[in-house]
Amino acid sequence: MKLLDGIRENARGKGKIIVLPESHDERVLKAAEILIKEGICQVILVGEEDTVKKRANELGIDLNKVNFVFPENYERFEEFAETYYEKRKEKGVTNNEAKKIMKNYTFFAAMLVEKGVADVCVSGADTTTGEVLRAALHIIGTAEGVKTVSSDILIITPNEGKVYSFADCAVLPDPDAEQLADIAISTAETHKRVVGEDPIVAMLSFSTKGSAKHKLVDKVIEATKIVKEKRPDILIDGELQFDAAIVEKVGRKKAPGSEVAGRANVLIFPDLNSGNIGYKIAQRIGKCEAVGPIIQGLAKPMNDLSRGCSVDDIVNVAAILCNMA
Ligand SMILES: CC(C)(COP(=O)(O)OP(=O)(O)OC[C@H]1O[C@@H](n2cnc3c(N)ncnc32)[C@H](O)[C@@H]1OP(=O)(O)O)[C@@H](O)C(=O)NCCC(=O)NCCS
Repeated sequence: MKLLDGIRENARGKGKIIVLPESHDERVLKAAEILIKEGICQVILVGEEDTVKKRANELGIDLNKVNFVFPENYERFEEFAETYYEKRKEKGVTNNEAKKIMKNYTFFAAMLVEKGVADVCVSGADTTTGEVLRAALHIIGTAEGVKTVSSDILIITPNEGKVYSFADCAVLPDPDAEQLADIAISTAETHKRVVGEDPIVAMLSFSTKGSAKHKLVDKVIEATKIVKEKRPDILIDGELQFDAAIVEKVGRKKAPGSEVAGRANVLIFPDLNSGNIGYKIAQRIGKCEAVGPIIQGLAKPMNDLSRGCSVDDIVNVAAILCNMA
């Protein structure tokens, strides 16, 4: 919990603006109220002000300091639709389709971030991961030098509160070596920015330093090599088994001389099967707290939520994003 308190504290006073497109969702309205009350950021809700405020009143939620925008009445609506058309016309999107898409609250909210009206966007309480990610990919796009959008889940251990970054657990089903290298670089940066610790990156596998030979292992070795070439400043090693990556004694035995083995805090899984299953084991059996996924690799911060998210989850993700903006 300490980490999350620190993240909320850090976001305060930065004056960032968040856009929340899902104004029909009670949890989002409650989160908007808390974000403002705690001074974490300013809030824009996408929706019809009168309708949303009426509902908020019935629910006892105070939205007085929230700004509202309704796509079709927004003075820059035509400009937004034109920008979307320009970005997607090569993919066969017509002018009319662009206007229709800009009426979708999540796509419209992504455009508010792209145009600098808001600093960050959080959606997904009631919108699928695919739709949120598509809005981000189509409108905001990837950061300079990054080809791959991926995600980082913070795993906080129950007793000592140690924080690990697990990636990718939510976006890219079957990354190749190049994409895996991108995931490692983005996650190292997210870990530094959000957790505040220097990243020590382990590229995970079922093999440690040649203990097994397989094409699945070769991919991890190749990705490690790419990161070392692209970013010699990142402390990384692979391929390592999970225990060799985080348990000092095992690391020393299985990968003697490695600066990473036994002390990794950033754990890169070889694909989405292992990443998603791995973080859920840590959460459900290991009783760790899982925070995120934090979407990384975008030019500007936009994040997905789990549809089962709580009000607190929304506030935490919003605070994390404000720190990343
Ligand atoms: C991210 C996702 C929506 C992309 O799907 P897609 O079918 O490639 O979507 P689109 O075709 O609309 O892709 C948009 C563009 O982004 C690109 N793209 C897709 N995934 C990308 C990624 N991870 N990083 C960078 N670019 C990506 C596509 O190549 C495409 O480029 P183009 O417009 O130049 O052709 C899809 O991989 C997905 O749904 N992932 C989530 C998996 C999931 O369900 N996770 C939940 C578990 S918690």
